[in-house]
Amino acid sequence: MSETPKSQRSSWQRTHTCGDLTSANQDQEVVLNGWIENHRHHGQLIFVDLRDRYGVTQIVVDQEAAGMADGLFELVRRLGQEDVLSVRGRVRARGQNVNKNRSTGEIEVLALAVTVFSEAEPPPFEVLDAAEANEELRMQYRYLDLRRRPLQEALVKRARFVTAIRNYLQDQRFVDIETPILTKSSPEGARDYLVPSRVHPGKFYALPQSPQIWKQLCMVAGLDRYYQIARCFRDEDLRADRQPEFTQIDLEMSFVEEHDVLDLVEGMVVHGMREGFGVELPQPFPRFDFEQAMALYGSDKPDLRFEMLLIDCTELARKSAFKVFSGAVEAGGIVKGLCAKGAAEKYSRKGIDELTAFVQQFGAKGLAWAKITDKGVEGSIAKFYEGDAGAELIAHMGAAPGDLLLFGADQPKVVHKALGEVRLKLGTALGLRDPKQFRCCWVLNFPMFEWNEDKQRWQFAHNPFSAPVDWDVQDFTAEPARHRSRAYDFVMNGWELGSGSIRIHRPALQAKVFDFLGITPEQQRANFGYVLDAYKYGAPPHGGIALGVDRFVALALGREGIRDVIAFPKTSTAFDLLSEAPSLVSDEQLRELQILSTAPKAEDAADS
Ligand code: AMO
Ligand code: AMP
Repeated sequence: MSETPKSQRSSWQRTHTCGDLTSANQDQEVVLNGWIENHRHHGQLIFVDLRDRYGVTQIVVDQEAAGMADGLFELVRRLGQEDVLSVRGRVRARGQNVNKNRSTGEIEVLALAVTVFSEAEPPPFEVLDAAEANEELRMQYRYLDLRRRPLQEALVKRARFVTAIRNYLQDQRFVDIETPILTKSSPEGARDYLVPSRVHPGKFYALPQSPQIWKQLCMVAGLDRYYQIARCFRDEDLRADRQPEFTQIDLEMSFVEEHDVLDLVEGMVVHGMREGFGVELPQPFPRFDFEQAMALYGSDKPDLRFEMLLIDCTELARKSAFKVFSGAVEAGGIVKGLCAKGAAEKYSRKGIDELTAFVQQFGAKGLAWAKITDKGVEGSIAKFYEGDAGAELIAHMGAAPGDLLLFGADQPKVVHKALGEVRLKLGTALGLRDPKQFRCCWVLNFPMFEWNEDKQRWQFAHNPFSAPVDWDVQDFTAEPARHRSRAYDFVMNGWELGSGSIRIHRPALQAKVFDFLGITPEQQRANFGYVLDAYKYGAPPHGGIALGVDRFVALALGREGIRDVIAFPKTSTAFDLLSEAPSLVSDEQLRELQILSTAPKAEDAADS
């Protein structure tokens, strides 16, 4: 198909977008197409703000203007918000009334003719101020909400980011491979979304929670470097950073070790942030051992925008007269503290009580505190830290007058969690977590297994395909908590944005992991037989990672949750308010699938 020559364009078709015109276009006759964002009538003048994806241009209709089409003034007068128009007019300077907040603020277009494409009913909320409207209403009329600039900006930048990632991976010889959406259900991981099969009555496909197994099979197939911008589906409880369907930058590489994957992804992230969001990331991204991250930041996703490290005070505490400290050490626990520079004044007694209540929700028994003054230590532990003991503590904490010290004494897990959360809370309160600043890091060598308190059994911490650090492990049962996996997380500003690992590629080792997880040989066969078989036919060592696109973009743009960067998101009950999905289906459809529903029919209505 050849392009329509310019001369054959219809007279209503735009010559410029609503974001194009400047004083350089003065006196030109132009045509703009767009939506009415604003409509004001002042005597013989009507001002219309015409909006499209690119910007807003002020249109003026002047009853007295020469060369105006007949009836134009009357026509425009009865138009309203969100009507869609074509405007032909002449560009003129706005003189004194320049609007500095707009790219087109130097000019306005004096209307000569208008074509109305569609007249809009009054919208259920003001598009311009939609951010204030009820969120459910906005999701129901998402196409109106999406007319807002912040949402359009998010989608445009998201697309730019993803394109940059694609280009980067393409240059690195990755192959974009589509993997199935109708896949096999497996009982591991989150809950599956199931799709009933018509031709195999009583059987179900599962939507992929990730392309994990497929990308590993691509490695067995010798494709060497795979990537996909992959849609993933998980039927889990939703939060601000979770959606039932979301997108991953998913990749896998053969014949690699951790550093190969990390180096490559670091380059990819730097490129994506630069091209997508104009952000230059500081490099290299620090790499922490899991234990080290927990010890220093009290978190496996440290926020590196500020320091305030957890300082080990166990040895000091051992000899302390303060029983909370020495008692915890005697009981095999630890004592750690953090020093909030210059924060003493900001925290009154009440503020500290609030912090104490805050840590208690993480299982801490209390929060010992001290304020440093010229005279020494003041606060809940002051009487135990007079004179030399006080001086020693101050020196150990690197504290100075005006600083606030906070301490936790308990088992390491409790202390790390509590102080890690306090650190973030203080960071926020003290303005140390600037949303415009971006700091990335890697966390490596996660525990292989974690104890599930509810189910009273061990489960894998990342996924069952991650290789153990100890390749020659014979038996996981001896000390399950001790085993480390070759799993790594990519973290930005305290958000886990990506996870991956070096995988197991030997069937015997894979079976050992399954055995330990209590998956019987029969279940292994039924659920993962095809993977174990594939490994019998020559599997290369391989590893990879997946980064959450929605989380990445939300964080890069400083948005509250990932809904703001998804065109058509679902509610926290996984409901699509726009199309009203999920919905009931006809009895005929169910009969065809040989499915009998026991759900009461009224429930669907209550859902929405
Ligand atoms: P994982 O399950 O850790 O790993 O997911 C990788 C990344 O995907 C994002 N993510 C989500 N984003 C939005 N909504 C959700 N419900 C959601 N769940 C996960 C996160 C997360 O870091 N196959 C492995 C990866 C691998 O080992 O290569 C996997 O899916 O940003
Ligand atoms: P108490 O001896 O219970 O009056 O507590 C004295 C101070 O120590 C208070 O500030 C408590 O919040 C704090 N505290 C109590 N238990 C702990 C603990 N396990 N770790 C840290 N601080 C604690």
